[in-house]
Amino acid sequence: MAEIKRIGIMTGGGDCPGLNAVIRAVAKRALFEHGWEVFGIEDGYEGMIKARFRRLTAADVSGILTQGGTILGTSNTSDPYAYLLRRGKGTVRRDVSVRAVGHVREKGLDALVLIGGDGTLHTAARLAKAGLRIVGVPKTIDNDLRGTDRTFGFDTAVSVATEAVDRLHTTAQSHHRIMIVEVMGRRAGWIALYAGVAGGGDIILIPEIPYTLDAVAAKIHFRRSCGKKFSIVVIAEGAKPKGGEAVIHKRIETSVDPVRLGGVGFVLGDELERLTGQEARCVVLGHLQRGGSPTPSDRVLATQLGAEAVRLIARGEFGRMVAVRGGKISSVSLDEPAKGQRLVPLDHPLITAARAVGTSFGDENAGG
Ligand code: F6P
Repeated sequence: MAEIKRIGIMTGGGDCPGLNAVIRAVAKRALFEHGWEVFGIEDGYEGMIKARFRRLTAADVSGILTQGGTILGTSNTSDPYAYLLRRGKGTVRRDVSVRAVGHVREKGLDALVLIGGDGTLHTAARLAKAGLRIVGVPKTIDNDLRGTDRTFGFDTAVSVATEAVDRLHTTAQSHHRIMIVEVMGRRAGWIALYAGVAGGGDIILIPEIPYTLDAVAAKIHFRRSCGKKFSIVVIAEGAKPKGGEAVIHKRIETSVDPVRLGGVGFVLGDELERLTGQEARCVVLGHLQRGGSPTPSDRVLATQLGAEAVRLIARGEFGRMVAVRGGKISSVSLDEPAKGQRLVPLDHPLITAARAVGTSFGDENAGG
């Protein structure tokens, strides 16, 4: 058993509904069951590098279960192994990991719970190898982390996106338009697939299945020939045409992962207007999918993962990431999420079910 008196907790990367639920679960179990002291690390790795620690009491984590965002703040630009420093008029990247590790030791943090996506957890794995006792908790609305079947935040994002699809039906029907909803997900199509199926999208376009404009237009023509004067397209921000590339909205050079996708829905809308002669409009949901209160399902999952992280610390099981495997809460090596994105498999049962009810993935030769 590890001798633990004081632990630290940090949220890194983009915010995500359920982060506060994890913080609450970790802090409450650590405080009540073990009597450990709990310190929050502010603004992701920025706080570790700058020694910004804040004591968390039971009162601090009370009432935050339902709150979106993170009470600790977060950052996706601060990598201790490639930290951006100003030098004259420019910037340089330097390895300041020794400083970050030193701050954790000086503060007397015996173990850390680091909550984040692939970037944050990759760094966590390196810090674990440098000697810190770490348990990772996977988070992302994209649901694309290797090592876990599900991430908290995903259900909330799907629920927001589904509501948007539901609402856009009104205008699509009234104006006989093509309405395109662009959802997040990076290079994975999980949000588009689930929200597309839940919202009854006629066409779902995901990065894993490159589309052809002809197939998408054929589906719209086919619907019109059946008397359906409108069509709903749910498109993932990372979707791309066959032989083409994803649309990059901008590059953020200070970010650990600089590419920001976005805008493919507008490109598709213009092409479909040209090919079908029907009016098209695109709505990009963006960060709305990450905002607000987590769904009950995300609150439950976040609580389970947070509680499990503390159990692992108490058992001395470090260098692990808590995870959902086969419907159960368990754990995998912290090295797992860095092995690449978890994409939608082409034989996923939801793709099969969607095709069975006539949904197009933009890869057929004719509508149907
Ligand atoms: O990974 C979560 C996510 O919301 C992606 O779906 C999206 O591509 C990206 O983050 C947006 O990042 P940012 O908040 O830096 O714009």
